[in-house]
Amino acid sequence: MSGFSPDWLALREPADHRARDGFLTMALADRLQSKPIVRVVDLGCGTGSNIRATYAALGREQHWALVDYDARLLTAARVTLQTWADAATSEGDTLVLQKSSKTLIVTFRQANLVTDLDAALGHTCDLVTASALFDLCSQEFIAGFARAVADRRAVFYTVLTYNGIQEWTPRHDLDGSMADAFHAHQTTDKGFGLSAGPKAPWALAEAFRSCGYTVKEGDSPWLLSRSDQALVDELVPGFAGAVRETGKLNSAQIEGWLAQSRHGCEVGHTDTLALPPA
Ligand SMILES: C[S@@+](CC[C@H](N)C(=O)[O-])C[C@H]1O[C@@H](n2cnc3c(N)ncnc32)[C@H](O)[C@@H]1O
Repeated sequence: MSGFSPDWLALREPADHRARDGFLTMALADRLQSKPIVRVVDLGCGTGSNIRATYAALGREQHWALVDYDARLLTAARVTLQTWADAATSEGDTLVLQKSSKTLIVTFRQANLVTDLDAALGHTCDLVTASALFDLCSQEFIAGFARAVADRRAVFYTVLTYNGIQEWTPRHDLDGSMADAFHAHQTTDKGFGLSAGPKAPWALAEAFRSCGYTVKEGDSPWLLSRSDQALVDELVPGFAGAVRETGKLNSAQIEGWLAQSRHGCEVGHTDTLALPPA
């Protein structure tokens, strides 16, 4: 199990979809929509949030391989997608979904990206995509990953990579110290070696440019207010728990910070589109 629960992914999905940079999605559509059939690999798919947000930008027939190392999340993805689609049939392990006049043919791959990246990517694909994944990855992984995508001459599109911006509402005197400690936690090993954390957008852009790709970026901040209180209420203790693990603030400081009630926050993310040379 990955530590990402289906409930947590469901809670954040509306904010994730709302946050995506629309201009970058349009640029993705411009590049790929002329293809009558598009082959897509979604890495770290969780319960399938990324396919639910991205399919509308792509052509009429889409072949999606959803990859995760967590079997529980892959099972949840299969169930959630069948409910979400206008119509769904199973052909063996493959799901055939109809959604808003598009046909989505979905397969599921259980693979660890660290040890099985080539198997995860498959031999050929038009688009490699991911949502809320790359801040977990190391710069070294990202560099090798970009080369593997470039070997396939695929388009790369990822959304919601944390970029280090966070502003709580209302503010607290310790917000800055808490953020510094949180970023120290962000750069610990999440299975890929020491994580790039908030430097991941920069690492992705560098890695793809060095493979000859054209890189475009857009902002996709969570702008959470009272209507997102349930998500804010999950973020606050999760954030404090990560800070506690670093040992950089003492318990009294963290408890003082937690005592401040919050009804909103901005969490900065970057979306990245990398296009291979024509
Ligand atoms: C923050 S969640 C994002 C899930 C989904 N993309 C979304 O936007 O809701 C990160 C996902 O990456 C997966 N993951 C983390 N490390 C992985 C690895 N080494 N191999 C494959 N999947 C991994 C987790 O299981 C989880 O589903």
